[in-house]
Amino acid sequence: MSQHVEALKAKGGSVGFVPTMGALHNGHLSLVEKGLSENSIVVVSIFVNPTQFDNQDDLIKYPRTLDADVSLLKTIGDTTILVYAPTVEDIYNDNITSQAFTFGGLEHEMEGAFRDGHFDGVGTIVKRLFEIVRPGKAYFGEKDFQQLQIIKKMVELYKMPLEVIGCPIYRAEDGLAMSSRNTRLTSEHRAVAPFIYKTLKTAKIKFGTKSAKDVSEWVEKQFKKQPLLELEYFIIADIETLKPIKRKSTKKTYRAFIAVYAGDIRLIDNIALN
Ligand code: PAF
Repeated sequence: MSQHVEALKAKGGSVGFVPTMGALHNGHLSLVEKGLSENSIVVVSIFVNPTQFDNQDDLIKYPRTLDADVSLLKTIGDTTILVYAPTVEDIYNDNITSQAFTFGGLEHEMEGAFRDGHFDGVGTIVKRLFEIVRPGKAYFGEKDFQQLQIIKKMVELYKMPLEVIGCPIYRAEDGLAMSSRNTRLTSEHRAVAPFIYKTLKTAKIKFGTKSAKDVSEWVEKQFKKQPLLELEYFIIADIETLKPIKRKSTKKTYRAFIAVYAGDIRLIDNIALN
């Protein structure tokens, strides 16, 4: 992969990169399409990274659909898309461990607090993939907004020669944020899951006139009335520090972040507030 990319760059070509864990959907395709519009080729990595899972069951059950993924990518590009699907041994040899990172404190908030070691695993694999693929631009969805901010911080801290580009959340028609995990929802859970985005949209309106505490309490109340969904957290945070808001400031930009269990499937989403 490295040789191929270097040869292309030597001829003046540019390389975009979309790292994924496969089970591709339209959200991923929107990232690849953005990459294709800005680069000569796009590398799509497909690798279910074991070190970012704090739950072994989730790792085992994570959907793996390489043939279908390749067919889907072929619908938007043939010679312009390179798929890189390494094995666990290719990446980790026999040492499946993560590097320990500090990302200026971003790693301790939200997903970092609820998923032990998650961002060490993400940092380890993304750094390794950046070293192999050596892209000029890499594309990440804003659904994993904390991940996006952490990757930007990593690129800054390690002075990596690439641009990290955040892309808008891609949603199903009923508002559910696209995720590879959605395919594992039961039909009952899939039917109620759009409630998450619906609640976020109303929370955004309420944030215009109410305090963050009032909005959070309102959200918690809504989920108590919804027996099929279990709220893990709802947090309004500053997008730079990802720290929960203390007092509203017009000089700061906020997002609301949410994690919800639909049965044993964990879904996350977020919305820009101002
Ligand atoms: O967002 C994902 O799918 C993963 O966290 C990533 C960036 C591909 C690293 O494994």
